[in-house]
Amino acid sequence: MKNQKIVRAVVLGGGAVAQRRHLPEYAANPNAEIAGVIDTNQNRAQELVELYGGRVYASLDEALADPAVDAVSICTPNVTHASATIKSLKAGKHVLCEKPMAQTLEETRAMLQAEKECGKILMLGHNQRLIRAHTKAHELLHGGAIGDLLFFQCNFKHAGPETWSADPGAATWFFRRDQAHFGVMGDLGAHKIDLIRYLTGSEIKNVFASTSTLDKRYEDGSLIDLEDNVVCLFDVENGLSGIMHFSWTNYGQEDNSSVIYGTKGVMKIFGDYADDIVLEMRDGIQVKYTVGGIQTNQNQTKSGVIDEFVNSIVEGRAPIVTGIDGHNTLAVIETAMKSAQERRWMEIEY
Ligand SMILES: NC(=O)c1ccc[n+]([C@@H]2O[C@H](COP(=O)([O-])OP(=O)(O)OC[C@H]3O[C@@H](n4cnc5c(N)ncnc54)[C@H](O)[C@@H]3O)[C@@H](O)[C@H]2O)c1
Repeated sequence: MKNQKIVRAVVLGGGAVAQRRHLPEYAANPNAEIAGVIDTNQNRAQELVELYGGRVYASLDEALADPAVDAVSICTPNVTHASATIKSLKAGKHVLCEKPMAQTLEETRAMLQAEKECGKILMLGHNQRLIRAHTKAHELLHGGAIGDLLFFQCNFKHAGPETWSADPGAATWFFRRDQAHFGVMGDLGAHKIDLIRYLTGSEIKNVFASTSTLDKRYEDGSLIDLEDNVVCLFDVENGLSGIMHFSWTNYGQEDNSSVIYGTKGVMKIFGDYADDIVLEMRDGIQVKYTVGGIQTNQNQTKSGVIDEFVNSIVEGRAPIVTGIDGHNTLAVIETAMKSAQERRWMEIEY
C-alpha cells in the first residue's frame, strides 16, 4: 500500500524557477505541502507564502532548524548550490537542487559525500529528462528504433536569461561570474549534456569546446565576462560522437532540438515544431510521435521534477536524476570550459 507521508518542503529562492515550477508543482502534489519560502527579497517571499501557504523563514538556518521541514528546493543563484545543499543534507533534509549542480567538481564531490553520510535524497533539477517526448525518445532508442547510435546534434538556443529572471535586465545575476560562475554553458549546456547522457545511456569521454561572448552586455554597454555562446564536439562511449551549440543570442524562435543518427535511421526531437519526435527511416518511411511538446521560456508546462522528487521521498527510492548525474554533467561542463581556454581536446575525469 502506498505510504501517505506528506513531504513539507521549503523553497530557497523565490525567483522565476520557483514561481513557474517548484511552488505551483508542490502546491498541486497531494503528497506535498509548502512549509515556507526564504528569499533575500523578503517582500517576494511574503507574497509567495500568501499565494501558496507556509511561512517566511528569515534564513536557511532558521528553516533547517524547524523539524516541520522535510525537504529543501534550492532555487537560488549557482554560487549558493553547494553550501545550501550540504547544509540542508546535514540538517537531515532531502534536497532538490537546481542546475548546474555547483561551480566546481570539488563542490559536487563534497555534495555527494554529504548525501552519502546523511542518507537523504539529493535530486537535480535537470527537467529535460522528464519531458514526455524525451522519455518516449529514451524508450524508442533503447528499443533499437534507429539501430546503433552513431552521432547526435543538440541545440539549446534562446534570447538569454535577462528577460526570464525575477529580477530582469542587464544587472541579472546570470551575467555575474561571482554568482553564476558559468554563462550559457551552466544555464543551457547543463540541460542537453544531462539529456544526451540519459538518452544514450553513455558517458561522454572527450570534449573540444569553443566559447565566445558575442552580444550580452552589462548596463554600461561592455560585454559580459561570461560566455554567451558555446560549441562543443564530444566523443562518447561506444564510438558515438556528437556536437552541441548553446546560445543566449538566438533572437528568433527558441531552439531546443536534438537529432540522433543511427544505423537504421534518424530521430529528430523538437526539430519540427508540428511533431515532437520524427523518425526518418533508411527505407524512406517516416514515423511521427506527438507526445506533449517542449517547455519554452514563453510556454511553461508542468516540469514533473517536483512530483518525481516528492514521489522518490514517499516511495523511499532514488530519483530519476541523481547527485551522480549532476556531478557527471558538471564534469563535462568543467572540462569543456578548460578545453575552450586551452584550445585542445580534453578527456573528462569523473
Ligand atoms: N531547471 C531549469 O530549467 C531552470 C530554469 C531556470 C533557472 N534554473 C536554475 O534555478 C536557479 C534560480 O534561477 P531563477 O531563474 O529562478 O533566478 P531568479 O533570478 O529568477 O531568482 C533567484 C531568486 O533567488 C533570490 N536569492 C538570491 N540570492 C539568495 C540567497 N543567498 N538567499 C536567498 N535568496 C536568494 C533572489 O532574490 C531571487 O528571488 C539557478 O541556479 C538557475 O540555473 C533552472
